[in-house]
Amino acid sequence: MFGRERVEYKGPDEMRTMRRAGVVVADALDAVVAAAAPGVTTAGLDAVAARVIAGAGATPSFLGYLGYPATVCVSVNDEVVHGIPGERVLADGDVLSVDCGAVVDGWHGDSARTVVVGTGDAGDEELVRTGEAAMWAGIAALARGLAAGERLDVVGEAVETEVERAQAAGLNGGRAYGIVEEYVGHGIGSAMHQPPDVLNYRARGRSMRLRPGMCLAVEPMLVRGERFTRTLDDEWTVVTEDGSRAVHWEHTVALHEGGAWVLTARDGGAERLGALGVTVAPLA
Ligand code: MF3
Ligand code: CO
Repeated sequence: MFGRERVEYKGPDEMRTMRRAGVVVADALDAVVAAAAPGVTTAGLDAVAARVIAGAGATPSFLGYLGYPATVCVSVNDEVVHGIPGERVLADGDVLSVDCGAVVDGWHGDSARTVVVGTGDAGDEELVRTGEAAMWAGIAALARGLAAGERLDVVGEAVETEVERAQAAGLNGGRAYGIVEEYVGHGIGSAMHQPPDVLNYRARGRSMRLRPGMCLAVEPMLVRGERFTRTLDDEWTVVTEDGSRAVHWEHTVALHEGGAWVLTARDGGAERLGALGVTVAPLA
């Protein structure tokens, strides 16, 4: 865990540069999702992202990070996060999570999405939508929490509440979804991973006060079964212990004097936050 003294507070100009990185990440993820189809290899998807990032004059955040060997993480089915692209061929119905980071002028953006390849199982589609809704609930809680002078733990509260709401509505056949706890969101800025940790579950103890200048990656990971994970022998790929399928959704969010701005969403979060009653606050 990081101490609160090490938070990097950003000014508007730094946030605008992070926005440029965020748009590059959005472009890369759009291209990867468009290319994802049965018969495509995960290495092929990595090449798509690499081309978009290089074409924008940006640099991948992940390549070389702690020795990570690729531009994106591609995690399929029971893989939760940090899957390494390779010769694996995507099949109809695969649950595909893609995580991408890019750097522009030294400032990072980080985002992940999950899609079902081709025709999916209805329960997998529900998992994907619940993960997405949980992420937006967490982001909306950040925006409201900033305005109300609340603390970072509003994210975990909102994510867990949204997952419970989905379960109560009968999704996942009424069984509980697992919320992964071993991996969490994070501060982001001149480095990809910074304090504070952003938990996706309710936790004891007092978290940091939300303040203008914070930039945070909100990234819940949900599982159709139990929340427990293990790491494969490649020392990267994280899979569910019980083999159940997982999703991962992530956006980079800037908190500033005027409110919240989702740097890795093309519309800044306007549509999804608007639907939750939150007015997004892009910087000019
Ligand atoms: N982007 C991941 C995260 O969301 C981290 C990827 S680890 C890496 O925090 F090694 F692939 F970069
Ligand atoms: Co992240």
